Amino acid sequence: MIKLAIVGLGHWGPNYLRIFSQINDCKIVACVDCDESRLENFKKIYPYVKFYRDVNELYKNEKTDAMIIATPTSSHFSMALQALQNSKHILIEKPLALSISECMQLTQLAKEKNKILMVGHTFLYNDAVIWLKKYIQNGQAGRIYYIYATRTNLGPIRQDVNSLIDLSPHDISIFLYLLDKKPKAVSAHGASFLNNQREDVAFLTLYFDEGIVGHIHVSWLDPRKVRQITVIGDKKMILFDDINPFEPIRIYDKSVKQQKEYSDYSEFKTILYEGDVVIPKIYLSEPLKNQCKEFLASIHKPTTPLSDGNFGTEVSNVLIGAMKSLNQKGTIVSLS
Ligand SMILES: NC(=O)c1ccc[n+]([C@@H]2O[C@H](COP(=O)([O-])OP(=O)(O)OC[C@H]3O[C@@H](n4cnc5c(N)ncnc54)[C@H](O)[C@@H]3O)[C@@H](O)[C@H]2O)c1
Repeated sequence: MIKLAIVGLGHWGPNYLRIFSQINDCKIVACVDCDESRLENFKKIYPYVKFYRDVNELYKNEKTDAMIIATPTSSHFSMALQALQNSKHILIEKPLALSISECMQLTQLAKEKNKILMVGHTFLYNDAVIWLKKYIQNGQAGRIYYIYATRTNLGPIRQDVNSLIDLSPHDISIFLYLLDKKPKAVSAHGASFLNNQREDVAFLTLYFDEGIVGHIHVSWLDPRKVRQITVIGDKKMILFDDINPFEPIRIYDKSVKQQKEYSDYSEFKTILYEGDVVIPKIYLSEPLKNQCKEFLASIHKPTTPLSDGNFGTEVSNVLIGAMKSLNQKGTIVSLS
């Protein structure tokens, strides 16, 4: 029985409380949130859980094996460092940390302490994304030309980080996973309207090997909630729509064939091909539950989870490069 504690019961943390409460081989011993009003909501529903306002109280009073960290991004590094120093396995929300040295320090410390460090890149545990990866890696989409993501909504507006840091880790993690490649360079633009300290909207371009281009549009200042990824291959074009649970994937049998032989340029033609649109049946389980189960399984075995410290560091590396580019008005930043 793995004993767990959760830090941060804001918008996202309660999902961990619900899910881990439904899984048999673990027990939530305690939860921490510095905001008393957040704790009050859960005391009646979870009478067997201890609630604290200070994480130091938790370390002083409770014996736990693992910590789930769902506090704001700016606190991730210090929360994770303290948890590892107290010899806890950790599942930490994305992004792992905001500098490469911090990411590497956490990954190294987890290794030295023989503890699991997993980052909450939930989309790696989404059945539609897993399905799409197999489809791309089997070559069914053909050569990938480009891939783009739209992640927009009105809110939630963060106080500690901009929309690039808050939202694009999802799409960066999906691109790295689907393509099985790291980008060589990144550029980013953004703009602040509500508060001149933080960009409300950002546009990132990722440059991969073989000429593959990735583009990400994130915003918390937009009228429509959109969570879509489009993959353009030379054989098929595919849409992943995360807010359509019944038909998350559409495969468009559309392509452009170029005439190979022509004697002069006036004979050159491109032939547009438009075939069927196929909607494969994909049975969706809850991605966060899959992620939580992998965390527990990694502790039991022990094995390395898919979104381990190294993967989390790769995502943060792209984020940090994108932030550098954003601050330099979109110059292309090489990612080594
Ligand atoms: N994987 C996903 O799809 C997803 C979705 C939303 C949020 N997140 C991530 O989850 C994390 C939390 O996001 P959120 O939307 O729940 O934020 P939130 O601001 O709603 O909640 C954060 C909570 O942490 C508490 N907190 C802050 N500092 C603390 C401290 N030092 N000790 C104890 N409690 C503290 C706050 O009181 C608050 O209740 C972020 O890292 C975010 O990126 C992930």
